[in-house]
Amino acid sequence: MADLRITALNKYYGQVHAVKGVDLEIPAGEFTVLVGQSGCGKSTLLRTIAGLEDADSGTIEIGGQNVTDDPPRDRDIAMVFQNYALYPYMSVYDNIAFGLRARKTPAGEIDGKVQRAAQMLAIDHLLQRYPRQLSGGQLQRVAIGRAIVRNARLYLFDEPLSNLDAQLRDEMRSEIKRLHQELGKTMIYVTHDQIEAMTMADRIVLLRDGKIEQQGSPLDLYERPATKYVAGFLGSPSMNFVDAEIASVAGRLAVRVGDSAVLPLPQSRNDRLAPYTGKRIVLGLRPEHISRAREGDAREGLARCGAVIDLVQPTGARTYATFKLGGVEAVAELQAHEASQPGQAIELAIDMNRAVIIEPDTEKVVS
Ligand SMILES: Nc1ncnc2c1ncn2[C@@H]1O[C@H](COP(=O)(O)OP(=O)(O)OP(=O)(O)O)[C@@H](O)[C@H]1O
Ligand SMILES: [Mg+2]
Repeated sequence: MADLRITALNKYYGQVHAVKGVDLEIPAGEFTVLVGQSGCGKSTLLRTIAGLEDADSGTIEIGGQNVTDDPPRDRDIAMVFQNYALYPYMSVYDNIAFGLRARKTPAGEIDGKVQRAAQMLAIDHLLQRYPRQLSGGQLQRVAIGRAIVRNARLYLFDEPLSNLDAQLRDEMRSEIKRLHQELGKTMIYVTHDQIEAMTMADRIVLLRDGKIEQQGSPLDLYERPATKYVAGFLGSPSMNFVDAEIASVAGRLAVRVGDSAVLPLPQSRNDRLAPYTGKRIVLGLRPEHISRAREGDAREGLARCGAVIDLVQPTGARTYATFKLGGVEAVAELQAHEASQPGQAIELAIDMNRAVIIEPDTEKVVS
């Protein structure tokens, strides 16, 4: 049974239509990440699920029960906010125990639950401290502890890691994921960070301007984006987009870029793309699918193309090299030492098996 079912949900703030007819089903035990640009409606959707905002139309069911008009405390949810929202005058222990006491949990059970959550989050030595005596990461753990002691059906997180530095974010990311594996609870996690979405989610729901643009497993969305928007949103550095044309060259299809480059398509893609012969398209190429050409590598679908590097960005394991393709800047992901300086001429191999072909008017991926 789905733990959460949202049907035709709309939410307005005056003239602003923040959530536009969203349908969403989340199965029990799943870790779902709501991701999208700032202002796309992630927090609004989460807060409406929690009951902190009223829906204008549509329904929300939690555990099979219609809760659309129920107040937050009757919804069987626990929520972690970006700003922690801890009580400053209460100790860590009391902050974690607060929700249990408010729900009249028998005193004998409270202590065990608080201790267990504190151990899980490695804050058991901090229980007597006050929030002002804690670091950002510790405050974050207390906020998570307060949510997980509650035996809720649904756990909601709104950008809980955005106040932390990069290293602590990485740590907390793995910890939240581990916590999910241990507890097996249904969790919905909001972030605008695509890397957080990719690394944490069982399923990503990508929101754009109040609507779901696409949903699926992280690799589903990464490897089979439905639209140019999704293709460009996931991945860092992001996918290269180049205006191009499908051409028939010596009886086979190829992508013609600018005046010079002709990139043959693998035979397996010819049927699907034949109707686009002679038409304008947008070619999408991920940096990792552009490499340095190797002598004698004649794999089907590998298109060769000469280039001059104009920017070199080493990251250690890989080096990103910028070059011009069809008049626009494109990025290739090379081995660490393959690109050394601007002006270097290089022969590139573009994996046309993985290239994304986009219809320019609708911005839909056609193959
Ligand atoms: N209380 C409010 N009154 C009026 N408009 C609001 C209110 N809250 C949000 N909005 C608007 O609704 C839209 C969605 O906002 P929301 O906070 O859900 O975005 P978000 O995806 O969470 O963004 P962010 O990543 O910046 O947190 C935005 O256009 C925002 O300006
Ligand atoms: Mg938000």
